[in-house]
Amino acid sequence: MRQLRLEPVPVSDNLRAALTAAGLLVDDLDGSDRDYFVCVDAEGRAIGYSGIEACGDDSVLLRSLVILPAHRSRGHGRHLVELTIEKAPPSADVYLATANTASFFEHIGFASVERDEVPSAILATRQLSGLCPASATIMKLSKPPT
Ligand SMILES: CC(C)(COP(=O)(O)OP(=O)(O)OC[C@H]1O[C@@H](n2cnc3c(N)ncnc32)[C@H](O)[C@@H]1OP(=O)(O)O)[C@@H](O)C(=O)NCCC(=O)NCCS
Repeated sequence: MRQLRLEPVPVSDNLRAALTAAGLLVDDLDGSDRDYFVCVDAEGRAIGYSGIEACGDDSVLLRSLVILPAHRSRGHGRHLVELTIEKAPPSADVYLATANTASFFEHIGFASVERDEVPSAILATRQLSGLCPASATIMKLSKPPT
């Protein structure tokens, strides 16, 4: 499993198709402040995608995270999150918004946060300012104390 790796990808039909099939947003994919990755296994097969959106100097939004259906429930989702976070600046706080997978993210180290605790740069993203339902859960990576 540790042989998974990320490769940068542009916004492509494959990325859009994978996100759409998983019910994730595709209306806000474009933008110079966001990077996308394909997650590739040891045989070179694409098993998922992820993205990261820079929000100000000290926060990022983890986004567009999907493991393709045939590859789920093998620990790849957790590994994809870990690999994607490594692409963020080390000091950045990592946030995400989710409609129905909060329990997965809680399980792997994120905690829910109230909107009034969330940086304005995160709330100003298109996801948080309009595309996500107001009921979406906003979560922050709980980093171990250093
Ligand atoms: C959510 C998703 C990425 C999980 O990927 P996955 O490869 O199936 O998850 P993993 O196998 O890495 O699971 C890691 C751990 O989380 C748990 N888990 C997985 N999905 C879960 C869920 N929906 N709720 C609670 N726990 C979950 C697993 O049991 C596992 O626990 P363990 O380490 O104790 O065994 C995948 O289901 C997916 O792509 N869903 C559609 C897209 C989506 O919802 N993305 C999130 C957008 S914000």
